[in-house]
Amino acid sequence: MSNKPFYITTAIDYANGAPHLGHAYEKVLTDVIVRFQRLHGREVHFLTGLDEHGQKVQQAAAARDIPPQQACDEVAALFQQLLQDLNISNDDFIRTTQPRHKMVVQRYLQKLFDEGLIYKAEYTGYYSVSQEQFVLEKDKNPDGTWPAIFGTVSCITEANYFFKLSQYQGWLIEFLNANPDWVFPKFRQKQVLEFLKDPINDLCISRPKERLTWGIELPFDSDFVTYVWFDALVNYASAVDTTGQWPADAHVIGKDILVPPHAVYWPCMLHALGLALPRQLIVHGWWTISGDKASKSAGNATNSLQLANTYGTDAFRYYLIREMNVGQDSDFSEEQFKTRYRTDLGNDLGNLLNRLLNMGLRQTQSTVPATPEANSLEEQPERELRKLWASTATRYLELATTYQFHTALEALWGFIREMNRYMEHRAPWKLGKSTAPADRTRLEACLAHIAEGLRLTAVALTPVMPGISAKIQTHIGLTPATRFAEQLEWSSQTAGARLSTQAILFPPIETIP
Ligand code: ME8
Ligand code: MG
Repeated sequence: MSNKPFYITTAIDYANGAPHLGHAYEKVLTDVIVRFQRLHGREVHFLTGLDEHGQKVQQAAAARDIPPQQACDEVAALFQQLLQDLNISNDDFIRTTQPRHKMVVQRYLQKLFDEGLIYKAEYTGYYSVSQEQFVLEKDKNPDGTWPAIFGTVSCITEANYFFKLSQYQGWLIEFLNANPDWVFPKFRQKQVLEFLKDPINDLCISRPKERLTWGIELPFDSDFVTYVWFDALVNYASAVDTTGQWPADAHVIGKDILVPPHAVYWPCMLHALGLALPRQLIVHGWWTISGDKASKSAGNATNSLQLANTYGTDAFRYYLIREMNVGQDSDFSEEQFKTRYRTDLGNDLGNLLNRLLNMGLRQTQSTVPATPEANSLEEQPERELRKLWASTATRYLELATTYQFHTALEALWGFIREMNRYMEHRAPWKLGKSTAPADRTRLEACLAHIAEGLRLTAVALTPVMPGISAKIQTHIGLTPATRFAEQLEWSSQTAGARLSTQAILFPPIETIP
């Protein structure tokens, strides 16, 4: 086992417009994976960035009558703002117009050319600008039309350079069969193999400058620029070119760019170059809005990002991770967001902390009472709660290792709700009125258990809601944990902590302007 950091990437987004919900989700998902790794003590390198070349971007800039680089700079600023707004902890941001990237693309092209793996030929085919790929007859709908995702498809004939992709088909199939977990979820790996049942063509990796100037010039023919996918995929390697961090441990991408770019072109390109393959592709589904794919072209997904500003970054992150089963599609709804905000966040989590702070203020001078010795505390409800935590923590971490974050959160909320029921049952507000010593002991045990339970919950929640988790720990009087190690077991470390007097984690919706 090497000491190489866990190297993970997102797709790099097209620089032809402002970020939308799909882009936001992919970054949050990757950030959650990254923060789990870091809390487990693993060093991480997290790359994201922007895909700035190609016809799509050139057209968008032309439509605004500005130079493509200027358009890209503007979009890059928007995406970098998004990363900040969503509290994404990326270590690097690559832009494919940067010299560090262009250099590597040209080096790879030259190497393949020198080895006879790239040749020139005339080609006639259908091209989809919106997906930046040639499409085939077999991609058509049964009624002969092109699927909407391809946008306008036009037939073009031109001389171009081709990468000998087809000769790697057998090798790729063997590789996939030998590595059944290369694509997560598994059913998507089956789709790759399904695609590979038909013979694949060589890959056109150039565009004549008459048609497209906005690209990386081929090092061996200055009349052509590089096909944008050949350029874009290389970002994952060019960003770490001199650092020894290749291969990536995971590429996080959406389902529309698995086949063929990430699961066919990229492994074959790397194999031809003699480079190692990424260890895993993590493929998420689409966010839809009333059933339609959220996209820039549909213009339906930008407003959803406002929710993060209005209700808080962490509430937005929670919603995205709680609602999406990684791999499946999910429908976005502002109503559903508000329901989660009100119930899961406000009622279950926010109120619990407030009840604790309230009772502390009234009964224990805002100090967390010492947890009674485990063996002297024979009372059933406390024992049950501690037991539930132990099983919840195990399940939560297990589900997270297989990217089942939605069910991990569901399990954690099972524990939070149980804490609420436990508090109702103990009713410390009643115990506080009693003069019997046993009731005082119960009251103190109750506050100690809620404080410790909330601490554990906050530590576990850190990857998903880093800001809120830190706040909860601070309100309990603790320094926010930065590691899971020894922080996820029931302990007495909250004893004696100074509670704050009031917390507003999730302001009621009615009070938000
Ligand atoms: O494909 N729901 O860029 P892109 C979830 N530049 N994810 C979505 C989505 C949605 N509604 N819409 C898009 C590109 N995405 C290329 C990638 S990588 C070397 C080059 C995801 O801006 C999409 O699946 O169209 C992809 O993973 C990412 O957002 C960027 O999409
Ligand atoms: Mg797209």
